Amino acid sequence: MDLGIKNRVVLVAASSRGLGKAIAFQLSREGSKVVICARNKERLFKTREEIAAETGSVVRAFIADVRDKSQVRRMVKQVADEFGTVEILVCNAGGPPAGLADEFTVEDYREALELNLLSTVNLCYEVIPMMKKQRWGRIINMTSVSAKQPINTLILSNTARAGVLGFSKSLSDQLAPYGITVNSICPGYTRTERVEELAKSFAEKGKGTTEDFYKNIKESIPLGRLGAPEEIAQAVAFLVSERAAYITGVSLQVDGGFVKGLF
Ligand SMILES: NC(=O)c1ccc[n+]([C@@H]2O[C@H](COP(=O)([O-])OP(=O)(O)OC[C@H]3O[C@@H](n4cnc5c(N)ncnc54)[C@H](OP(=O)(O)O)[C@@H]3O)[C@@H](O)[C@H]2O)c1
Repeated sequence: MDLGIKNRVVLVAASSRGLGKAIAFQLSREGSKVVICARNKERLFKTREEIAAETGSVVRAFIADVRDKSQVRRMVKQVADEFGTVEILVCNAGGPPAGLADEFTVEDYREALELNLLSTVNLCYEVIPMMKKQRWGRIINMTSVSAKQPINTLILSNTARAGVLGFSKSLSDQLAPYGITVNSICPGYTRTERVEELAKSFAEKGKGTTEDFYKNIKESIPLGRLGAPEEIAQAVAFLVSERAAYITGVSLQVDGGFVKGLF
């Protein structure tokens, strides 16, 4: 299927590794002009080289912390100066630490909201004026299954991600008249370094071995395995494509069946 996004200008936030990197790779394979960002310069530029070498498409990299409004503004301005616009925006960030309510302070919640909710708001606010002007746009907000089915040991994630779903749904309604779609992706457990870190934290807290962590997870997933980053990226590629022009305001789990609810 031709997704019809060749030469579209794409900004994938937080994309030097893991899900963001897989999404940037996939959209670059589709011929989009892809801009990636992260904080660690070395890894970011290595990823840029890797993607450009494989796909031969235009790939740019910016060092930016998505929690910082001025850094996001500067990055979006530089992208607009070079390419004229941003047409597809994928909001992503790192994940907050794992833990139960009694392990955190109010300040920890503030940090989680800045990382996972306000970074999304920041990015959207910088890009939406351009999308409105061109009367075309695709926004994908990356959240987690924890927004639909809270995971007991991820209380910071459960709290921040639900806000992203509310924000996305409101935006989808308000931006539809401009030809802009807004959808959220709720990944389930997917094999990235973030999950390896969660496994390590599980073992360090004396809850069992890392093998126990993976065994427990697999038992909670009807398809019986973790996802691959490429499987999340393929869902994103479809939702940002011309073929998904009539899909907006959805939050799509890509989780091997992990979420048990109807919605
Ligand atoms: N993997 C899963 O199973 C899973 C499931 C559900 C939800 N999620 C969520 O999806 C998101 C991505 O997950 P992942 O597994 O790909 O995580 P990851 O392996 O930790 O990768 C995170 C990426 O984001 C960048 N990043 C982190 N904080 C940033 C910031 N403040 N500003 C700019 N870039 C930043 C990192 O680079 P730098 O550190 O260099 O900035 C890195 O490139 C996370 O929020 C995660 O919690 C993941």
